[in-house]
Amino acid sequence: MKRIGILTGGGDAPGLNAVIRAVVKTAVYEYGCEVIGIRDGYDGFIDDGGVIRLGIEEVRGLLPRGGTILGAANRGNPFARKVVRNGEEVTVDVSDEIVKGIQRLAMDALLVLGGDGTLHIAHELFQKGVPVIGVPKTIDNDIGGTEVSFGFDTAFTTATEAIDKLHTTAEAHHRVMVLELMGRDAGFIALHAGVAGGTDVILIPEIPFKFESVIARVRQRVERGYLFSILAVSEGAKPIDGKQVISRPGDEIYTPRLGGIGQAVGEYIEKEGFETRVTVLGHLQRGGSPTPFDRWLATRYGAAAVRLAAQGKYDRMVALHAGKIVDVPLAIAEPRRVDVNGDAIITARGMGISFGDEAPPRPSPNSN
Ligand code: F6P
Repeated sequence: MKRIGILTGGGDAPGLNAVIRAVVKTAVYEYGCEVIGIRDGYDGFIDDGGVIRLGIEEVRGLLPRGGTILGAANRGNPFARKVVRNGEEVTVDVSDEIVKGIQRLAMDALLVLGGDGTLHIAHELFQKGVPVIGVPKTIDNDIGGTEVSFGFDTAFTTATEAIDKLHTTAEAHHRVMVLELMGRDAGFIALHAGVAGGTDVILIPEIPFKFESVIARVRQRVERGYLFSILAVSEGAKPIDGKQVISRPGDEIYTPRLGGIGQAVGEYIEKEGFETRVTVLGHLQRGGSPTPFDRWLATRYGAAAVRLAAQGKYDRMVALHAGKIVDVPLAIAEPRRVDVNGDAIITARGMGISFGDEAPPRPSPNSN
């Protein structure tokens, strides 16, 4: 193995730099192999100055740094790239150009750090002859085939800290606080942070909710003398018979942008007579230094990906199974979702947390 390439695709996630560092150190120290970095996802193969040499010097101090020194491009799909031709924006397939760019660099392997979109593109490039290896990256933790992707633990930590902070002000003002969290179609961030932060309600995409059940829980708390409530609402949560709230529609390149369900839930609660504030945590969940767990996982993933490259095991993805690093097929058919019957949900319900799917209490016959 003489030369490997590495790129970071899709949205950034804490731990990308830690993987890059681990890849370079393992490649150089263990295999005497050269590493080249591709800038801005797959775009770097066709953009001027898109390829840089990564040696030990270049990765010094990277372990705790958020973001990615290589840049990310979550619109960079080589099979559908938007370009301007004759003054008009058109979508073109530039995958052959990318493949040629890759072949010119004579790489023994291309390590692709990405979420399901980027990894699916990697699999398609493998079918065109590119020796790819995947590393699962996303704060959403929605990649099938692995128990955890790096970046998730940091987002989970940031979300929990936000809930802790909302708690004190909610209690002081006797208010309802709604916190909208990221995660796309997977509710892991809201579920984990909601339990760790002790919220009263958690709304996730996997469990459609009823507004009446949510308000019933808030009201019940007030009746019991708890004058504040905290709700963790996943951006992909939706009411039964309703739709996800989208802040910008998608097209053949852009996936729809989720956002706004927290506001909808907050407005409903406010109308029912409870003073409510809504916070959208947004990209704070993707920024900042990775947690120790994410640094540990990212380092193990990076080193394992280089070992796979040395064995010539392409079209595979490194993964975590029961605490061990393994490799699985890259084209993971099933995305990861919260198991609605799993122990995490059962535990949360046991803590008195509502998922907004309980039957709303019936008014007692004597009440007016
Ligand atoms: O997939 C990671 C993620 O942060 C999602 O949780 C969120 O829906 C989306 O990316 C936001 O994307 P963008 O950075 O394009 O706004």
